Amino acid sequence: MNFLEKKICEEGIVLSSTVLKVDSFLNHQIDPRFMKEIGSEFADRFKSSNIDKILTIESSGIAPAVFAGLDMDVPVLFARKRKSLTLNEGLITASVYSYTKQEQNEISVSTKWLNPGERILIIDDFLAHGEAALGLAQLVQKAEAHVCGFGIVIEKSFQAGRQKLENQGYRVESIARIREMSPKGISFWKEESE
Ligand code: G4P
Ligand code: NA
Ligand code: NA
Repeated sequence: MNFLEKKICEEGIVLSSTVLKVDSFLNHQIDPRFMKEIGSEFADRFKSSNIDKILTIESSGIAPAVFAGLDMDVPVLFARKRKSLTLNEGLITASVYSYTKQEQNEISVSTKWLNPGERILIIDDFLAHGEAALGLAQLVQKAEAHVCGFGIVIEKSFQAGRQKLENQGYRVESIARIREMSPKGISFWKEESE
């Protein structure tokens, strides 16, 4: 098991066969020392990709993205889910369907911070059905920037997200890949079994 898989086994709570609660270090309380390791892992995996900027989405993507940005020495931009009071001109938007909430939501970034030709690494906390990830990729495409890949903290490999991203030709790097889970335990994809 890698350092994240170990942490998930120690602190994660399996709420159902599809939902994992990781409030102790990622989705509510944040463990900065641990998140710094996550950031370094992303930096290492994408060190040959000449990344100019990281794009994530509020709120839980921000912590891993910032630590990756610190290690890679690049700025971090987060897409907003709600309209901002001060951010209203030159917006690029994409529509994201939420399976859990069964609703369509707009996400947005300002054209000021996402520029043509920039090489973008997209980071998020979870990869489930991939709708948020595809929405982020759309923002990058609309800005005429380039998606260099996806850095995911926890991938639920039994949901379709990875497949959707790979079908579009994207590189996906997930630090933990959950193959299956139940209140009895969690199993991960191992590098050898891929
Ligand atoms: P999906 O369609 O791609 O599956 O995403 P969905 O809208 O269902 O996800 C809704 C939220 O739940 C997202 O965060 C997503 O990161 C998170 N999520 C999805 N699966 C899990 C899971 O198994 N465990 C946990 N802890 N989170 C999961 P969000 O609502 O945008 O919240 P946040 O980023 O502000 O935390
Ligand atoms: Na979340
Ligand atoms: Na998220």
